[in-house]
Amino acid sequence: MSKAPLAAFPAIRPRRLRREDWIRRLVRETTVTPNDLIWSLVVHDGPEPEIVVPSMPGAPRMSVSRAAEAAREAKRLGIPAIAVFPYIDPAKKDPQGSTASDPDGLVCRAVAAMKDAAPDVGVMCDVALDPFTSHGHDGLIENGVILNDASVERLIEQGLVQARAGCDILAPSDMMDGRVGRLRSALEAEGMTDIAIMAYAAKYASAFYGPYRDAIGSASVLTGDKKTYQMDPGNAEEALREVALDISEGADMVMVKPGMPYLDIVHRVAAAFALPTFAFQVSGEYAMIQAAAANGWIDGDRAMLESLMAFKRAGCAGVITYFAPRAARALGA
Ligand code: PBG
Repeated sequence: MSKAPLAAFPAIRPRRLRREDWIRRLVRETTVTPNDLIWSLVVHDGPEPEIVVPSMPGAPRMSVSRAAEAAREAKRLGIPAIAVFPYIDPAKKDPQGSTASDPDGLVCRAVAAMKDAAPDVGVMCDVALDPFTSHGHDGLIENGVILNDASVERLIEQGLVQARAGCDILAPSDMMDGRVGRLRSALEAEGMTDIAIMAYAAKYASAFYGPYRDAIGSASVLTGDKKTYQMDPGNAEEALREVALDISEGADMVMVKPGMPYLDIVHRVAAAFALPTFAFQVSGEYAMIQAAAANGWIDGDRAMLESLMAFKRAGCAGVITYFAPRAARALGA
């Protein structure tokens, strides 16, 4: 398709299409609606409905019953799905992340409570061990090395337990090799043919996850970094290989993470593969907007909506964001 203008100034004056709100709305190429949002939230196991996380203003840890209420709120606001992340009591963490595969664990109870409260709101679970391990890594570790194949086996146990608890979308965020394929065949073997997999396909070793690690309580325990499994921020071609692999292994949807600093990757992935591409507007992106807005340096609502628009414009089918309920309200839901 030719993008060349058909005429030159003054025959063409692009400002004609910007002069009033009605015409800007008429020619707008991209729109954001609550349908584009997945609400990411963190649950905890205590009675307090909400526990403030200082680096995540406006996105507190929620009790299981408050999360069920959030599911009802999502339904009212037209938000299709919620992604749930757990804060695990440090006393329950161990090197194997044992509680990750506990059918009575926090995540499973939260999933069940949310599905009970709002059956037609989708629930997505992270498949990764980091909230559950005493070392804060997404997999198993031996002599300082993250084990790939042994980690995958643990992750499959975790994913199956979440699926049995009623989770609709499994989202492996661990970046181990081969995990999507193993997860898909394990689901098929159990007859769970309708569970969707949204692969964190291009997930970078990023500084923007800091506030999330505060929220789930892994910041204080994490030893070293995640650079042997998460991607190098300098790589784009590799993102296309990672996405292609996850699709060939059975992913239904793919994700790029973080979001806004990686819109080039989103755009390339969405253009190259014919399946829904999502971006995670991660905790650090959320915190930056919140902090600047709190200082009066930017208009928080406008920056929030503009950032969501940017994801859509880049090619996203939707965005995982801590802003979801506020954005839905700002959009008139
Ligand atoms: C862990 C995981 C992370 C996030 C989602 N799942 C962080 C990490 O890899 O350390 C980040 C979410 C956010 O920053 O909002 N598997």
